[in-house]
Amino acid sequence: MREISNNGEWTVMDKLFLPVLLGTNRQNRNSVHPARWLIGQMQQRAEIETRLFDVGEFALPQHDYGQALKDQFPEWRDAIIRADGLVIVTPEYNHGYPGTLKAVLDLLLREYVHKAVALVGVSAGPWGGTRVIEAMVHMVRELGLAVTFSDLNFPKVQNTFDAEGKLLDPAFEKRAKDFLDELVWMATTLKWGRENVPSKFH
Ligand SMILES: Cc1cc2nc3c(=O)[nH]c(=O)nc-3n(C[C@H](O)[C@H](O)[C@H](O)COP(=O)(O)O)c2cc1C
Repeated sequence: MREISNNGEWTVMDKLFLPVLLGTNRQNRNSVHPARWLIGQMQQRAEIETRLFDVGEFALPQHDYGQALKDQFPEWRDAIIRADGLVIVTPEYNHGYPGTLKAVLDLLLREYVHKAVALVGVSAGPWGGTRVIEAMVHMVRELGLAVTFSDLNFPKVQNTFDAEGKLLDPAFEKRAKDFLDELVWMATTLKWGRENVPSKFH
């Protein structure tokens, strides 16, 4: 299924494209730290290509919504068409996800189908966004995404990174590895399925 070149390195063709979506446009958001740190972890893995999308950089209109707008966001559209999966970094806002994040996700639909999604919860409180992740599972399923069962939770995020975004707790390195291992497995399996098992969706 995957080819490894003569020197044992992953070839470019083998890489999974797994963009990261930072889910809040709030000024002074702490979620930016786990998002950037996770991108760094992903970039160290030979089998992953990634890039950051930031919902704060989407010029969403005030009076329109949904897939009709997708061609106004070609970078996002084309990235998800090419993607093998997606990482969503969401803060917990009153046990839910930010409306801006939902508005960005709702720009597309068919483009997500049979791709993996892994969820990162970020909170000021002690539960690390477990409640927002539970809320997201139902929603991303309707988008056609397949959710991994290894989440990454950042409780008390204000104490977990310093002001420059440096991780203060090395325990997250093993957690991120387990989280990414599961995402890679799901994304690889679904990629094979999309390429080899007929479906009316692709
Ligand atoms: C509107 C709003 C609602 C929030 N609700 C919760 C919450 O339900 N549980 C929690 O632990 N923290 C809550 N917080 C705090 C955020 O989790 C905290 O700001 C954290 O740093 C992640 O969000 P940020 O990326 O916007 O900083 C809330 C913050 C805002 C702005």
